[in-house]
Amino acid sequence: MKGIILSAGKGTRLYPATKPVCKPLIPLYDKPLIYYPLDVLLRAGITEILIIVPPDLQQPFEQLFGDGSSLGISISYKEQKIQRGIADAFIVGKDFIGGNDVCLVLGDNVFYGPGLDDCLIEARENNTGATVFGYYVEDPRPFGVVEFDGDGRVLSLEEKPVKPRSNYIVPGLYFYDNRVVEIAHSIEPSERGELEITSVNNEYLKMGQLNVVKFGREFFWADAGNAGNLLSAANTIRVLQDYTGSIIACVEETAYRHGYIDRDKLYEAGIGMKNTEYGKYLLGLLT
Ligand code: G1P
Repeated sequence: MKGIILSAGKGTRLYPATKPVCKPLIPLYDKPLIYYPLDVLLRAGITEILIIVPPDLQQPFEQLFGDGSSLGISISYKEQKIQRGIADAFIVGKDFIGGNDVCLVLGDNVFYGPGLDDCLIEARENNTGATVFGYYVEDPRPFGVVEFDGDGRVLSLEEKPVKPRSNYIVPGLYFYDNRVVEIAHSIEPSERGELEITSVNNEYLKMGQLNVVKFGREFFWADAGNAGNLLSAANTIRVLQDYTGSIIACVEETAYRHGYIDRDKLYEAGIGMKNTEYGKYLLGLLT
């Protein structure tokens, strides 16, 4: 299975902070925002990754990750010339995906919680059709919303409904079989002119092949799309890290634990950042 991180948004909801630096590269507490979705893919065991970037902005991403070899994985980049919506990732990424299944994660979504790794591996190994997730929020209106019947079966999916039919939203993490490429080419843009990911999910729902896995209430998910969300997510990450003594979305640690890199590479990464808690944490993993 291949992985795509969609990081092509200009981040206009974070202006002026994101005028000189695009959103996925700004820090969420102690690391760039894009580390969080990248870590999700690494945890899922996905090591061939395409990062979709805004026009003319590939270079800073390359400075950060290069070809992925420092993490023992393969990372390539492709520009999304025109912002046409999330489902456009499968059109931009068509050649990269080839005949494979694919996992898409949005560049500004943060996932953390017990059981995350199991959910990811289960979705990667046993997905037939589409597997997406459901997460309870107080105000679901800005998101894709999923409605269930009494037995937990999916009844409907709506993008940014004025009157949501449930409090469960679909966060930005999606597993699809290879038909997603064809489906993305076949859907029509929504009223806001975008190829909506919810339209793709609705196609799988119509075929009876949409699996929605509910994350528990103990789970933490955030969409760091505006300044307030970014700050509260950063505060939460800080508290969680301080209490657990571990670092969330530490991609070097995940790469090491999954065997993508060895001790030498982990040491190299740690020593290069030894003046920070992050670097010291990496070095501490070797003792
Ligand atoms: C997008 C999707 C929406 C999803 C959300 C998660 O919203 O369209 O279905 O729930 O990401 O972050 P957008 O970021 O375009 O507002």
